[in-house]
Amino acid sequence: MKRRVLNIACIGAGYVGGPTMAVIADRCPDISVTVVDLNEARIAAWNSDALPIYEPGLAEIVKRTRGRNLRFITQAEGAAAIAQADAVFISVNTPTKTQGEGAGKASDLSYVESCARYIADHATGHTLVIEKSTMPVRAADTIKRILANGKGGATFHVLSNPEFLAEGTAIRDLEKPDRVLIGGEDPDSIEALAEVYRHWVPEKAILRTGLWSAELSKLAANAFLAQRVSSINAISALCEATEADVDEVASVLGSDSRIGPKFLKSSVGFGGSCFKKDLLSLIYLCEFYQLAGPAAYWQGVLDINEWQKHRIAELAAAHARRNGGIVAILGLAFKKDTNDFRESPAIDVCNQLLAAGLQLRLHDERVEAQAFSACLTRGTKSVRFCGSIDEAVEGADAILVLTEWDRYAKLDWSALFAIAAHGASVFDGRAVIDRVAARAAGFKVYSVGKG
Ligand code: UDX
Ligand code: ADP
Repeated sequence: MKRRVLNIACIGAGYVGGPTMAVIADRCPDISVTVVDLNEARIAAWNSDALPIYEPGLAEIVKRTRGRNLRFITQAEGAAAIAQADAVFISVNTPTKTQGEGAGKASDLSYVESCARYIADHATGHTLVIEKSTMPVRAADTIKRILANGKGGATFHVLSNPEFLAEGTAIRDLEKPDRVLIGGEDPDSIEALAEVYRHWVPEKAILRTGLWSAELSKLAANAFLAQRVSSINAISALCEATEADVDEVASVLGSDSRIGPKFLKSSVGFGGSCFKKDLLSLIYLCEFYQLAGPAAYWQGVLDINEWQKHRIAELAAAHARRNGGIVAILGLAFKKDTNDFRESPAIDVCNQLLAAGLQLRLHDERVEAQAFSACLTRGTKSVRFCGSIDEAVEGADAILVLTEWDRYAKLDWSALFAIAAHGASVFDGRAVIDRVAARAAGFKVYSVGKG
């Protein structure tokens, strides 16, 4: 039986749930969308002018949809929204397990399981339950089992509809996705969800697969992307040793249509809430199915990432130690155009510099100082958060660029040279700054992948 989705609920108002639901509400004025979260402060922020996450274009969309067909409510008020919903998206965090079987690798499904129980308790009629968060393969089995034990008498179909948006470009990615993936076992349910996306996504971009393929495709896509970054970062070290230029090499590689030009930017390492977590989850799955070779292969992608962060931190540390011991860090976010710093390379680099006894001056365009300081393992006595780039650079012996914010590409290096410590060097972990200008101003410049 074909069904139409007219009421959507989404559990989880985070970096995925918030923007995704805002775009669905924007593109589907006939559908009513309710986003539910446990975190009252986060819901209050979604209902204010200071949204809890920064994404270019997001505030404008929320402004025109909130109160029309988009609302944000706390879980305490959420039961009626679940009861009314034709489709409930699960968009909660699936962090790496810290204890129990698979600790340190497997994904923790406890938040997902708690959502499934909440849905089982409150849903009425027939409800589509949609995995939006990245899940390990066969997570849908767990969800189905919980739903089957619900006492409400509702019926369910579970779909996997993983989100491929990247932070910083979330709105563009949602509005013009390369593809939307829907995995399921019931063709009518798949079509009901496809109908939602058809409001703005061309039919040919809506891919249908089985449930397990959809779950695995998301993990595999992130692993492939991370593997490209580790591959170019492995080449970056060789470029530095041989006086080659990694951007030149990347552009030659990228001109081969079989390789393609994207995701070949050498860096201090990948960060973000997905790549490491999903690689670990994939490694755990390989080990679970006794596939030691593939597990070791994907572990290598993670190992190169750790190695790259460590070696660039050590270059800056060695220089700062020989001088006055002050390091200016420009960039804490894991990439530009987001306030997110989960698994940001800046965390490990700062902790390594602090362990080396150095003083840090931190600057970022969007990351909140207080939240970031919680990631520092050595307390904040040796750390100062700076409201301006000048304040961070003043008196610094090493200037370390860790995020590719546009502003860092346009710095006035002569002015910075005048306020930095005598003999200061610049370490560009993103190959983003104007090297010629920085050298002309008097700095010694290291840039990742530049021989
Ligand atoms: C990623 C996937 O791209 C997205 O499809 C998925 O839904 C979630 O995980 P995200 O982590 O938000 O998205 O950002 P992404 O643009 O993939 O960047 C991840 C990390 O890799 C960042 O730290 C970025 O700076 C780094 N990176 C990316 C590079 O170092 N070089 C590159 O060429 C590309
Ligand atoms: P992502 O990047 O996957 O969106 P976030 O951590 O940004 O992850 O967001 C996940 C959101 O899910 C958080 O706001 C968290 O409060 C919420 N959440 C987690 N578990 C539940 C739950 N059982 N019910 C409602 N909200 C939940």
